[in-house]
Amino acid sequence: MVKIFKLKNIISIKDFEREDIEYILDEASKLEDIAQSKAISDELKGKVLGLMFFEPSTRTRISFETAMKRFNGQCIGFASSDSSSVSKGESIADTAKMFEAYSDALVIRHELEGVSKFISDLVDVPVINAGDGAGQHPTQTLLDLYTIRDEIGSIDNLNIALIGDLKFGRTVHSLAQSLTLFNNVKIYLVSPPELRMPQEILHDLNKTNVEYVEVDNIEDIIDDVDVLYVTRIQKERFVDIDDYLKIKGAYIINKKMLEGKDLIVMHPLPRIDEIAGDVDDTKYNKYFKQAANAVPVRMAILKTLIKNNPK
Ligand code: NCD
Repeated sequence: MVKIFKLKNIISIKDFEREDIEYILDEASKLEDIAQSKAISDELKGKVLGLMFFEPSTRTRISFETAMKRFNGQCIGFASSDSSSVSKGESIADTAKMFEAYSDALVIRHELEGVSKFISDLVDVPVINAGDGAGQHPTQTLLDLYTIRDEIGSIDNLNIALIGDLKFGRTVHSLAQSLTLFNNVKIYLVSPPELRMPQEILHDLNKTNVEYVEVDNIEDIIDDVDVLYVTRIQKERFVDIDDYLKIKGAYIINKKMLEGKDLIVMHPLPRIDEIAGDVDDTKYNKYFKQAANAVPVRMAILKTLIKNNPK
């Protein structure tokens, strides 16, 4: 049976079924060779990707650009609101309409939840959410799942700890929701009480057979997990900086804690102080590999969306 990918836009991981996720992961596996050898294919020659980044980004923006360039495509766009006419007062809607005219797909990062969805309703080209405030980060989740499948062999039967800022961290929101599509998954939600996973996501978990528990300490769960998924405290989302300073440094993973354990450490990056430098040279470190996996996964996303939705 020929598999098809049904989604036109990638806005929320909740729009995905398991087969949609597997489609992108399988496509990404096939593209590993091009990504790793830094070769160029003509798959998207003549196509243009519009990058609208209203919030800071290193990996997400650069890996989308790299993915497009590996296919011999072009990128246009801006990396901060300051360098676009939004800073002169132009509306996001008008800006998006211009990008629609200039490009074959749009990648959007914005500090407000729902902006990518709003734009996808205005334009005809595919829209990819590259992070909307404390909402979703679905393409990060796809590369996280790719990394888990690659390193552990399967996403089913997984015991995973999501650690850090579960309240504001969009990567853990999307990742937790995606895991509801897999079998026999147990999630440990490790955070200070102030930064617990939002109720609506717990509600989504409750509707499925994913098992989850909320805990305060890494030590209580470290022997039971296959993956420690560590996140930074999202300083920019705190209204009161003192609240941030109270929690900062709450969890730090170091080499000694990991010794003798059978697990991998992941992090969407950037890391601040959550993972000590002495973990970098150990077998537990999969966060740099995870960041490198962004290229084949985003190549798979761009190829699929742009080919399925010609202008
Ligand atoms: C994350 C993000 O922007 O949500 N970074 C990323 O895209 N890899 C994580 C973060 O900023 O903490």
